[in-house]
Amino acid sequence: MSGVIPIRSICCIGAGYVGGPTMAVIADRCPGVQVTVVDLNQARIDAWNSPDLSKLPVYEPGLDAVVERCRGRNLHFSTAVDAAIASADMVFLSVNTPTKTRGVGAGQASDLRWIEASARQVAAAARAHTIVVEKSTLPVRTAEVIKTILEAAEGDTPTGSKTFSVLSNPEFLAEGTAISDLEAPDRVLIGGNDPASIEALAAIYGQWVPAERILRTNVWSSELSKLTANAFLAQRISSINSIGALCEATEANVREVARAIGADSRIGSKFLKAGPGFGGSCFQKDILNLVYLCRHYGLSEVADYWEAVVNLNAWQQHRISALVVRHLFGTVTGKRIAVLGFAFKADTNDTRETPAIRICGDLLEEGAQLAIFDPKVTAEQMAVDLGRLPLQGSLTDGFSGEGVWQMAASPREAVAGADAVLVLTEWEQFRQLDWQALAPELRHPAWLFDARAICDATAARSSGLKVWCVGEG
Ligand code: UDX
Ligand code: ADP
Repeated sequence: MSGVIPIRSICCIGAGYVGGPTMAVIADRCPGVQVTVVDLNQARIDAWNSPDLSKLPVYEPGLDAVVERCRGRNLHFSTAVDAAIASADMVFLSVNTPTKTRGVGAGQASDLRWIEASARQVAAAARAHTIVVEKSTLPVRTAEVIKTILEAAEGDTPTGSKTFSVLSNPEFLAEGTAISDLEAPDRVLIGGNDPASIEALAAIYGQWVPAERILRTNVWSSELSKLTANAFLAQRISSINSIGALCEATEANVREVARAIGADSRIGSKFLKAGPGFGGSCFQKDILNLVYLCRHYGLSEVADYWEAVVNLNAWQQHRISALVVRHLFGTVTGKRIAVLGFAFKADTNDTRETPAIRICGDLLEEGAQLAIFDPKVTAEQMAVDLGRLPLQGSLTDGFSGEGVWQMAASPREAVAGADAVLVLTEWEQFRQLDWQALAPELRHPAWLFDARAICDATAARSSGLKVWCVGEG
């Protein structure tokens, strides 16, 4: 094999939850490589450049320390997209690929407009041979789209011969543990058909990832592996949530069942936590992509099989809002409900597809007054997600029967005068809540609905609360 192409300069298009942390760790582990993360969004880039590390646009444990070490040394954040592409040996595409909201494939297929736009920008701005790496989660065969766009721009330029090769290098980091996932990945997957480019990228990861964990596949296998990994993980959650519902109807306890089945090494213990259903930017989108792909290839039974995982997830969320209403005497109109947690999981400020959107949405439809507390999510983000502005003034003022919400500054503020507390995110601080101190603040009879099974239910019960805990009969 010819020598490995040396990579001195990397550009990453997209400074989001994937691009930011991934490039920060690459810069940290490869001090000889200049890494520039670019984005069209000036406010986002300004936030990445903020001297106050608590203002970074992505909250991720450990990220601030990595950024502090590298920023200005070999990690840069900029809106000068073309300049960064022009000087890069390797360009990562890490732009958003949400589910299409209209047109062909609406509700299932990914919207590739940002991927296409960034590929065109790379095609125009690159100067010499450039390795283009798909990092965003993409439908299978996207590499071909990117390749077609890039190949149309190949040719001689004053600065040399402009050529491209495309690799798929899907991201497996989970939010909340992104830095440790990047620093010690179970595996790194590189898909491609140009060995020299594959080895160039493998050499970057090889700076800190053991060689046997760097897997090489063809480009389609790599793209499909990402969708499949997420589909399998999400399937486990829908499976355990389905059993949780059965446990609630019987005298079983889903955590005992999970422990018992997880001890079987063929099953394994991870991803067996019953809860309010999965959220996040990947699971639903990737499964819907898989469903779309299967239908496209005429595999309707396979499509139905995977679609059931998503349907069960939505069912679980509606089931939880419905049981809150049922336990509160069949009506929540005008009742105050403290919602603890809005992010889709702990240790992130991300709310994409968070179960809180559907559950809070249902309760607002029913006329509830929600006091929502989350340690990292802003009121502005909640307003976007809930599709309505927070109520100005006090929640008790001018009661109209319409559902309203406000952000609370603490769990204590949220529960004051509430008929129920609903725990939706497994933030560590909710495990530590002092129910003896909180219970007198509620209007009794009062309920604790623990959709994550993290609260001290014994303490809550002995403080006079009625308790519902997910998956517990
Ligand atoms: C996921 C994949 O784990 C990651 O590999 C991929 O790159 C992106 O998608 P992420 O969405 O960040 O990562 O978080 P993850 O920890 O997988 O959790 C997803 C959702 O499942 C969360 O809402 C979480 O609360 C829920 N979940 C997870 C459960 O309900 N039960 C579990 O046992 C595990
Ligand atoms: P992810 O979770 O995949 O990282 P995000 O939405 O957090 O997704 O981040 C994607 C980023 O990509 C956004 O900040 C968006 O502004 C940026 N982006 C999208 N298209 C382009 C483009 N053509 N050039 C530069 N940045 C882009």
